[in-house]
Amino acid sequence: MKLKNTTAENSFRYSWLISRAFPFVKPFLFRIFLGVMVAIPVGLLDGVTAFALKPFMDYVIGQKDLHMMLCGHSIDISYSILAAAIPFAVVFFAAFQGIMRYLNDYLTDWTSQKITNSVKVKLFASLVTMDSSFFDENSSGIILTRYLSDPDVAAKNFIQQIKSIVTSLFGAGSLIAVMLYSSWKLAVVGVLVLGCAFLPMALIRKKVKEASNKGMVVGGNITTNLNETYSGNKVMTAYSLQEHQKEEFNKQIHESFDIAISLTKRSAWMSPIMYLIASIGIAFVLHYGMHLILSGEMTAGSFASFVTSLLLLYKPMKTLGGTLTNIQTIFVSFGRIFELFDIKPSITNKPDAVSISGLNSSVEFNNVSFAYEEDNLVLKDINLHVNKGETIALVGNSGGGKSTLVNLLPRFYDVKSGSIKIDGIDIRDITLDSLRKNISMVFQDNFLFTGTIRQNIMLGNPDATEKMLDNAIKSAHLEEVIESLPDGLDTVLGERGTSLSGGQRQRVAIARAMVRQSPIVILDEATSALDNKSEAVVQKALDALMQDKTVFVIAHRLSTIRNADKIAVINEGHLVELGSHDELLQIENGQYKMLYEMQFRKGEGVNEGVNEGVNAEVGII
Ligand SMILES: Nc1ncnc2c1ncn2[C@@H]1O[C@H](COP(=O)(O)OP(=O)(O)OP(=O)(O)O)[C@@H](O)[C@H]1O
Ligand SMILES: [Mg+2]
Repeated sequence: MKLKNTTAENSFRYSWLISRAFPFVKPFLFRIFLGVMVAIPVGLLDGVTAFALKPFMDYVIGQKDLHMMLCGHSIDISYSILAAAIPFAVVFFAAFQGIMRYLNDYLTDWTSQKITNSVKVKLFASLVTMDSSFFDENSSGIILTRYLSDPDVAAKNFIQQIKSIVTSLFGAGSLIAVMLYSSWKLAVVGVLVLGCAFLPMALIRKKVKEASNKGMVVGGNITTNLNETYSGNKVMTAYSLQEHQKEEFNKQIHESFDIAISLTKRSAWMSPIMYLIASIGIAFVLHYGMHLILSGEMTAGSFASFVTSLLLLYKPMKTLGGTLTNIQTIFVSFGRIFELFDIKPSITNKPDAVSISGLNSSVEFNNVSFAYEEDNLVLKDINLHVNKGETIALVGNSGGGKSTLVNLLPRFYDVKSGSIKIDGIDIRDITLDSLRKNISMVFQDNFLFTGTIRQNIMLGNPDATEKMLDNAIKSAHLEEVIESLPDGLDTVLGERGTSLSGGQRQRVAIARAMVRQSPIVILDEATSALDNKSEAVVQKALDALMQDKTVFVIAHRLSTIRNADKIAVINEGHLVELGSHDELLQIENGQYKMLYEMQFRKGEGVNEGVNEGVNAEVGII
């Protein structure tokens, strides 16, 4: 499935998204609840300072004692006590609010990190089970954004938004309460005007969403570009592509700048407009308030409390307005995350899959056809029978389908029609784990993981003993290499194993295949890149690996081919000839014969590439 950077199909089914998100949130419900509880006083205490202004103005500044009735008792507090107590109370509540805020931040960050991590862990677990075709179709950039950024946006912000909604709601609530207490008439006017001020926010929500989608696309391209600059740095330097890469990067950066700026252009007018509307409201309130004070309906203290509350109300209202936009973005991210969870690999274990251990009789390809893309057959009706212990060499034109054929055996891809059987059992009926345990592969381009040489070899078989490891190192002719390294077997390799030469890397891969001790060996030979001396060493290592195994080898050298029990010539997806070296030479005008004779006619050595020869041959035909 090809991933997109934009909105997923289900991004707007809110209740569906919430029900899917719930299992991730469930383990942390108690802490989230605690966080919400703590957020309430943080919000409520916003009103305290505003509220305190009223008694301060009316009693302290007006130099009046406070009389009030509490539970039937009359209480008198002198204004001088209030003068000391009110500022003290303001500081006390601020300190209390600070502590609550700290607790709230701690709980929010803790839960949001935990939720994000559990989403990431689960996404990664699903990523590693994806089919090879998934990785063929999707760039590294999009995988990075979709598997790392979305969980951050969605899970982290989700809890942050709950926090800001609760704090802002209670903040706004307490301030509105103070306003109502001061004068309900003024409060109605104030809240209505402020409400109008936030209307424009709803208008630009769609634009924000569009820009965020476009931003994702460009962000993904930038990441892919950086990755390619890293992985392809040799090609880049060799062909002086630095300028080209730079231009590409500049273009992408400009594009992301344009997206950001166009969003700013369309949305930055909002804040000043909001302020303007709010200030008109305040002007109106000041004017109307003056009348209320003069007519004795309101005290100056109440008015001071009111205006302070109104000013303070701006912030929580703005946060609430912004939250609507943020929640939209969060749901879009959630939609994309659950889309990833819904991609199911097509290559999986059948419920009644059997486990195999070892190879007893043969591997068969029966009428196998395969296509990467619909209707474009890369392999057509291939029939092969390889007995236990035999070596079959695959030769043929470049792009003919040799690598594809061997990739079908460990089920990197499944056949489109026909079947592949091991000891008579269709490989689709065998558990993936046991099937792959029985196969060791050495690829054309061998990937080494970050870590030591030992770790890289042991990846082939974590249960391998020291003795197996030693044997593998000897047979792969790695002893000398390892001795020459500063930390021997425990030398840490660079991210791509770059501190080793091509031939050395290949021998580490051979040792890795060797410790696996599996009965079937697949070799995609890539010796053309090596010089004669290292090629001879690699050849020896390969010979050791192939000993007593059932081997599929994509061979480039005549020596391997001549020694194989069977040779299959695969051209343009067809198996055109099959037989031993001697048998194939008997075929008049046979492809293999022409190829072989061409080698002799050229008078070139045994190490000459036969597959390249066939390419030329096919070109002539
Ligand atoms: N992952 C893929 N997605 C789509 N098409 C692919 C993929 N891998 C290979 N192909 C196509 O399938 C065909 C067979 O490729 P394959 O790699 O099997 O050839 P090959 O015989 O191994 O060639 P070579 O000798 O050059 O390694 C080619 O046309 C190639 O373009
Ligand atoms: Mg190949």
